[in-house]
Amino acid sequence: MPLVLGIESSCDETGVGLVRDGVLLGDALASSVDEHARFGGVVPEIAARAHLEALVPMMKRAVSAAGVSLSDVDAVAVTAGPGLASALNVGLAAGKAYATSLGVPLYGVHHLAGHAAADVLGHGPLPSPCVVLIVSGGHTSLLLVEDLVRRPIRHIGDTADDAAGEAFDKVARLLGLPYPGGPAIGRIAEQGDPAAIAFPRAKVGDFGFSFSGLKTAVARWVERHDGPVPVADVAASFQEAVADVLTARAVAACRAHGVTTLVVVGGVAANGRLRDLAAKRCREAGIELRIPPPRLCTDNGAMIAAVGDLLVAAGAEPSRPDLSADPSAV
Ligand code: KG4
Ligand code: ZN
Repeated sequence: MPLVLGIESSCDETGVGLVRDGVLLGDALASSVDEHARFGGVVPEIAARAHLEALVPMMKRAVSAAGVSLSDVDAVAVTAGPGLASALNVGLAAGKAYATSLGVPLYGVHHLAGHAAADVLGHGPLPSPCVVLIVSGGHTSLLLVEDLVRRPIRHIGDTADDAAGEAFDKVARLLGLPYPGGPAIGRIAEQGDPAAIAFPRAKVGDFGFSFSGLKTAVARWVERHDGPVPVADVAASFQEAVADVLTARAVAACRAHGVTTLVVVGGVAANGRLRDLAAKRCREAGIELRIPPPRLCTDNGAMIAAVGDLLVAAGAEPSRPDLSADPSAV
C-alpha cells in the first residue's frame, strides 16, 4: 500500500502527516497562532514566515513519529487552496521540492476536502452520499459529498458574510477574551446561561448562513448594557445562537437530500455545545453523526495526506509540476 505524505499551510498551521491505506501513521503540527494574537486575526506575512521556519522541523518530526523514512514515501499531497496565497505558496514549494527529489507524484488538494477526509482517519470511509458541515475560521459551508476525490465539491449552503469561527473570534475580541476566540468563548460559556439573551438566528436562502448580524447584535447589546458586562451569559447566549442555527440547517439539509450521515468538521467542530446539540438533533432525526477527534478538526497535515491517499487509490491524475496556489478555490 502506498505511503502518502501530506502538507498543510493554508492559514496559520504548518501540518505534516503520513497516511497509508486510510490509517494515520504519524503527524506533526506547528502553529503561529500566538504571533497573530495581538492583531486579533491571522497576518499573512507572519504566517508565511512561520511556515518557512516550521516546515522542515515538522517534516522530520512527522517522519519519526510514523516510524518511516522519507525515502519510503510514494506520493506527496499538498494543500493548493483555498487559503492565504503567501501561506499556501510555502507548502506548495515544499511539496514540489519533496516530490521532485523523491521522484514521486504530487497531488494538489482542496483544503475543504481535507477537512472532510479528517473523519476518514478517525472513523473509516465516508458513506456516499453524506452532508458535510464545515465550520472553521475561514469557512462555513454545507457540502453534499458523494466522493471526496471528485471536483468541484457541491456546496448546498454557505455563509453570506463571516465564517462561524470568525464570528467566535470577533465576539471574543469585543468581550475582551483572547484570540483565538472559539476556545475562550467555549470555556467561559460553561459558566453562563445560554438562554440569558435571545440573539438573532439569521438564515439565508434554503441552507445558507449569516453571522455578521449576530456579531453586531452582540456588540449593540454590550454597548447598551449598564454596569459590568455578564461575559459568561453573553458568551453562552452567542454560542447557543451559532450552535442552534448550524445544527438546525445541517439536519434540514440532510433531510432535504435524503442523506442519513452528517459529518461536522473544521475548527469550530471542537466546540462542546455544537457537538452536544448536533448529537441531540441527529439522534432525534435518525441521522448518523460523525465528528473527527478534536485534534483532527482543526487544520493539520494528516487530513491532506488522507485526501492524497484517496486520490492515489482512485488512480487520479497527479498535478502538473507547475501547480500553483488557488487561494479562492471552490
Ligand atoms: O479549521 P481551523 O483550525 O482553521 C481554519 O480556519 O481553516 O479553524 C479555526 C477556527 C477559529 O476561528 C477558532 O476560533 C475556531 O476555529 N475554534 C473554535 C473552537 N476551537 C477552535 N470555535 C468554537 N469552539 C471551539 N472550541
Ligand atoms: Zn481549515
